[in-house]
Amino acid sequence: MTAPASPKDSFDLAGEFAELDAARPQPWRDAWRSLPAAQQPDWPDPAQLALVTAELASLPPLVFAGECDLLVDRIAAVTRGEAFVLQGGDCAETFSGSTASAVRAKLRTLLQMAVVLTYGASVPIVKIGRMAGQFAKPRSKPTEIRNGVELPAYRGDAVNGLDFAAGVRTPDPSRLLRAYHCSAVTLNLCRAFTTGGYADLHQVHAWNQDFVADSPAGQRYERLAGEIDRALGFMRACGAYPTELRSVEFYSSHEALLLDYDDALTRVDSRTGRVYDTSAHFVWIGERTRSLDGAHIEFAKSISNPIGVKLGPDTTPDDAIGLVKALNQDRRPGRLTLITRMGAGRIREALPPLLDAVAKEGTPVAWVCDPMHGNTFETASGYKTRHLDDVLDELDGFFQAHRAAGTHPGGIHIEFTGDNVTECTGGSYQLDADDLHQRYETACDPRLNRSQALDLAFTVADRYRRS
Ligand code: PEP
Ligand code: CO
Repeated sequence: MTAPASPKDSFDLAGEFAELDAARPQPWRDAWRSLPAAQQPDWPDPAQLALVTAELASLPPLVFAGECDLLVDRIAAVTRGEAFVLQGGDCAETFSGSTASAVRAKLRTLLQMAVVLTYGASVPIVKIGRMAGQFAKPRSKPTEIRNGVELPAYRGDAVNGLDFAAGVRTPDPSRLLRAYHCSAVTLNLCRAFTTGGYADLHQVHAWNQDFVADSPAGQRYERLAGEIDRALGFMRACGAYPTELRSVEFYSSHEALLLDYDDALTRVDSRTGRVYDTSAHFVWIGERTRSLDGAHIEFAKSISNPIGVKLGPDTTPDDAIGLVKALNQDRRPGRLTLITRMGAGRIREALPPLLDAVAKEGTPVAWVCDPMHGNTFETASGYKTRHLDDVLDELDGFFQAHRAAGTHPGGIHIEFTGDNVTECTGGSYQLDADDLHQRYETACDPRLNRSQALDLAFTVADRYRRS
């Protein structure tokens, strides 16, 4: 992220971090370590893990306190209905995917979606990548069995490899260091692409160049880009050259799942004495690890980053209130985002009671819809997939519930990639289950391809306008 919005912001960006002194008490560490932590790998060699986390603790922060604070301000605008979050990227990033071309393709898709949303919904879009750190996955089963052979489940490149071989699936702490370095490389590319001219709105056509001819979503986008071009031409003719159009504010995020990793990257902000997880601007706690008595929530309590929590369809109003009270004791707008992932069939009954209860409790929160994780199913041929119609149906339910409750639909959280993969069905290309084998490349959950991601952005802009 960059593009400070005001001189005050740019001053804050210079925030420094105190060196962590191992001899000094670090109470936040003891607090989460004394509680049960779900979904942690069985590291075979704890001594090696300790060496790795010590090294991580000595490495530079990837993000700065002032940047995290600025994102809190941006999300505070979301809680007031004055901005909308677009959060997305891979389900699981991979080390081999940390290349300039793959990162650029993802960013380009995110930028195109953001343009569609900004223009269509007429609201500022807060752009957060599931990027530069999304290397660890919770799993429904700790092991995987193939042809009678049982091995540890793949838990993301930060833990083990995807190939089904004993040596590869054994958790390896040195992968945490590689995750840090791949995050640094990815974030560096993101910072360069979003401020070095690539994200300049005058490039609105260029992002679409390789895409337009044979894609309905690309053609629709091209028409919108034409309108933006005319608006930019009009502004130029009036003598206006706003710097806001030349670069983009971009933030990184991942699930704070591997507490040894996120904890090793906590630093104390020397300006305020507050603790930040400097591995990403925004971190969230997943549906499987959000127990109020567990280590993940305790860890999240101790950091000052903006944070999210996933809420599945069985979340009760009491659960939601408990999390809101635990995670936003100061009732700070922008601190807490609730990311609902109910499933298209459940959202209309499951979301309204939560909206009601949280509104009554009174703490401001941003409500974001993850329409992916409640809509996964397996095809007859064994592919894990999602249908774009279900994804859009959940989004419809999200907008309807907020309209009925008088609360703000604050954003979307999606899994997509910049490439033309065939992992989800539906969309303007009408992919069906028989097409999935063509380019099924995900390391974990099925992602929208670029065309489906744009289809989704057009629909969301339309729903937002009407909500
Ligand atoms: C995810 O976001 O990839 C994920 C595992 O989500 P959830 O915690 O909502 O299941
Ligand atoms: Co996922």
